[in-house]
Amino acid sequence: MVGQMVQIGACILIQGDMREVLPQLTERAALVLTDPPYPLVAGGNSTGEMRGLFARESYDNSGALFDLVPWAELAPVIWAAARDDADAIVMANDRNLAEAQGALEVAGWKFHRLLVWDKRTVTPNRWFMSGLEFGLYMWRGRARPINDKGAHPLVRCPQIDVTGHPTEKPVALFRRWIELTTAPGDLVLDPFLGSGSAAVAALRAGRRFIGVEKDPRWFEAAVARVAAEVAGGQMDFALGGAA
Ligand SMILES: C[S@@+](CC[C@H](N)C(=O)[O-])C[C@H]1O[C@@H](n2cnc3c(N)ncnc32)[C@H](O)[C@@H]1O
Repeated sequence: MVGQMVQIGACILIQGDMREVLPQLTERAALVLTDPPYPLVAGGNSTGEMRGLFARESYDNSGALFDLVPWAELAPVIWAAARDDADAIVMANDRNLAEAQGALEVAGWKFHRLLVWDKRTVTPNRWFMSGLEFGLYMWRGRARPINDKGAHPLVRCPQIDVTGHPTEKPVALFRRWIELTTAPGDLVLDPFLGSGSAAVAALRAGRRFIGVEKDPRWFEAAVARVAAEVAGGQMDFALGGAA
């Protein structure tokens, strides 16, 4: 069901299931930048029981148990909501990357490059630390060059907690990806908005934005966050480039 719609400045925020909302949008996006809920099974003890920091990750990355949209289902939905020459940056972790890329390619998206977010995690792990997440940088139609051909695909910035959302992403990371792949005034779409990090990033980059969030709690949080951003602005966080 499609719920509330709120417009704040250059942002339109819609509460509902992306599978129902996106087919109703009247403008197609230049960039789909999104961080879908995917299952995390990162760690556990010898009995397979999750504990400590990882307990939360026995759920999906939105913090909800099995509230997932399969990659094969979301890929054609974002394809249909994107412009003929659009890009998509779709986040995944190392366990979901192959399935995500495969589903996006079946839907028609072509693969440009793997973007890497180094979260600066320092928690030791017997099988390497799990400190990276990824952005599948995809394109369709006519490949548009990025705005700085010297840009490195690795970005280092800490995972921060401004909103309390269990999988909040840094605004600085999203802002960098938006600024590199779109022009001022372009429409950016995030169909899994969460706490609204992509909306704040788009505003700071001077782009228009549509965000969709199913959970009314996080929808309200995103609306409040975007309203505060438009009213006063907030500090951004510094990025560390690749070595
Ligand atoms: C990984 S989180 C996004 C976090 C966001 N990037 C942030 O920085 O706050 C995924 C979000 O998608 C939402 N979600 C799950 N299924 C959805 C659906 N079918 N339509 C729209 N939103 C959905 C979840 O409630 C969750 O907040």
